[in-house]
Amino acid sequence: MAVLGSLRSVLRFRRFERNGDRRRLQSVANVDDLRELAKRRLPAGVFDYIDGGAEDERTLADNSDAFGRYGFRPRVLRDVSRIDTSATVLGRPTPLPLVLAPTGFTRIADPQGELAVARACARAGLPYTLSTMGTRSIEEMAAASDSVDWAGDGTRRLWFQVYVWKDRSLVREMIERAAAADYEALVITVDTAYLGRRERDVRRGMELPPKLGPGTIVDGIRHPSWTRRFLANEPIVFANITTSTAAQAIPDGRSAVNLAETINTQFDPSLNWSEIEWLRSIWDGKIIVKGIQTVEDAELCVAHGVDAACLSNHGGRQLDGAPAPVDLVAPCRDAVGDAIDIICDGGTRRGSDIIKARALGADAVMVGRPYLYALGAAGEIGVDWLLDFFATGTRRTMALCGQSSITDLDENLLSGV
Ligand code: GLV
Repeated sequence: MAVLGSLRSVLRFRRFERNGDRRRLQSVANVDDLRELAKRRLPAGVFDYIDGGAEDERTLADNSDAFGRYGFRPRVLRDVSRIDTSATVLGRPTPLPLVLAPTGFTRIADPQGELAVARACARAGLPYTLSTMGTRSIEEMAAASDSVDWAGDGTRRLWFQVYVWKDRSLVREMIERAAAADYEALVITVDTAYLGRRERDVRRGMELPPKLGPGTIVDGIRHPSWTRRFLANEPIVFANITTSTAAQAIPDGRSAVNLAETINTQFDPSLNWSEIEWLRSIWDGKIIVKGIQTVEDAELCVAHGVDAACLSNHGGRQLDGAPAPVDLVAPCRDAVGDAIDIICDGGTRRGSDIIKARALGADAVMVGRPYLYALGAAGEIGVDWLLDFFATGTRRTMALCGQSSITDLDENLLSGV
């Protein structure tokens, strides 16, 4: 009896959590854990499409490793009882300088796909970017995110990512739809004249949506919950193309498409700076150019009147050997001054990375893969968990660095610059 009594005093059992997503999140501590969970839950081809990068994946690895080359110079004995992480992005306030990146085919990670991510962003008050290759339509996204009271202030922050198709009538129509649905900004992706060679997908002969044929049947059986939800939900398609009246003979995902073939035949490789002026002439909102990888091109963003340069190598999925975006922040900021916003996209895995990017001069960071891991690991509440992880990590890092306002940070905070 006495033994039982002392056992009871030292044993603590968590109450059993019935909700599977919540239960899985109980053992998650960081983005790597979400990635591992997503790896277990998603078919291998789906996971590799999300997780993989171009060629030898050196740029993919370096995007995160580069953050590790900067350290902190923490100050002490400075009152950090109040921490303010709010900043301004594209001239509007945000509770945290974090933006969610456009990702193609988001519904392969979770049937709700982009809707789940937009709702989580709305709850957190953060901007979310819908991809041209998204699997939810421009209008569905606006309706879903309006069902949530954007962090209490009703400010909708949806951005729309544009790939420039050879068929300009399709581009124009999508932009008109984004304007009608009150999107805040266009994010023009400029690093995808051709699709990067993602060799994990090449090996698998990856097509989107994934085919459940003889090659993938074993994978499907090994991931029964994904397969059940994939089969039970409406088919995954390029929702902005299937709902377009302009799109003609453009693969829309109703039958499986090979991404490289689609992009290499449908996107316009002649895209150049004059096109940015055309886009400006048909869009009154903000314009962000995503895929800037040199100081010279950051300067051209200023010359062409865009509102923000997004330093990005497409998450290491395009040119292997491209520089890590975080290393470009300080030189680009030095070159452009305050003329435009700078967004750092790629490799951010913690709040401390957000602090490093801010201290180097970025207005905000953008994340893609982390929320796809979160979706694959635990659906919509996985994304809520991730956004909270970034917010609390940012606050904690500031407190440990003796900093109370995120807008006051500069390079003095960092070593390794
Ligand atoms: C699409 O943009 C991709 O990177 O797969």
